[in-house]
Amino acid sequence: MKEVTVSNLLEKKRRHEKITALTAYDTPMAEMLDRLGIDLILVGDSVGMVLLGYSSTRFVTMDEMIHHTKAVRRGVKRAYLVGDMPYRSYQTPAAAYKNACRFIDEAGCDAVKLEGGEAVLPVLRFLRKKKIQVQGHLGLLPQSVKPGTPFHLKAKDPLSAKQLMEEASLLEKEGAFSIILECIPYEVGRMVTALVKIPTIGIGAGPFCDGQILVTHDLLGLFQTFKPRFVKPYADLAQRVGRAVATYRREVSNRSFPTLHHSFSMAPEALRQLKRITQSLRHD
Ligand code: KIV
Repeated sequence: MKEVTVSNLLEKKRRHEKITALTAYDTPMAEMLDRLGIDLILVGDSVGMVLLGYSSTRFVTMDEMIHHTKAVRRGVKRAYLVGDMPYRSYQTPAAAYKNACRFIDEAGCDAVKLEGGEAVLPVLRFLRKKKIQVQGHLGLLPQSVKPGTPFHLKAKDPLSAKQLMEEASLLEKEGAFSIILECIPYEVGRMVTALVKIPTIGIGAGPFCDGQILVTHDLLGLFQTFKPRFVKPYADLAQRVGRAVATYRREVSNRSFPTLHHSFSMAPEALRQLKRITQSLRHD
């Protein structure tokens, strides 16, 4: 399979072919998603809540993002790789450029993602001038939610929906290659998708977006802290992990694991010699 590019993603929208996207935070998962033909892999700042035990994505640092993104890069040969700019890493165009360069040059990303509409336009414009590809993110913006407060549906009234549509147009005009739409009514997802020529990737934005993204740990049933309505768990790995660990614990406790089958042995002559030369060490 060939490497995925921005033109491939645009072409998919033009042909009404769905774009598949998922998150990854480490090499083995990235390798699997890449091999299984996922088009776009996002190293999301969701890593903070899913893997690092933070109560909000706001606590994720640039260094943590770069660490995980480098690991993902080592597993990705074909998919389009996007790094998620963490909270307060893109407050000014200069800071955004410095941090985006770390994602691109140090961690090997194809693009970066920014949360926000009108507020991020100067940054988006500057990054595009510097030839950095940028993915937008509208609707529910987890970095804007105060830690400890729940996530809510966005753009549910006509005025905020219209504002979201205007912001989608502005992101397109300033050169974003795609927009993530998170947790908005499906009608709004559909209208934005028809309005812009760049691909929309939905997460809780209904079935009419150009593509779909989920947090991989949600899809696999591995993230148990909360389960948004828009998540469809395709497996229950937490239950399987639970069963495997309980069996391991029982077998170690009752001495049925490990057996000689899982052990190494010495050559008989080596063992005889060992016993001879260690005789003086025995206390019996
Ligand atoms: O951080 C993340 O994983 C994301 C996706 C939910 C789109 O931003």
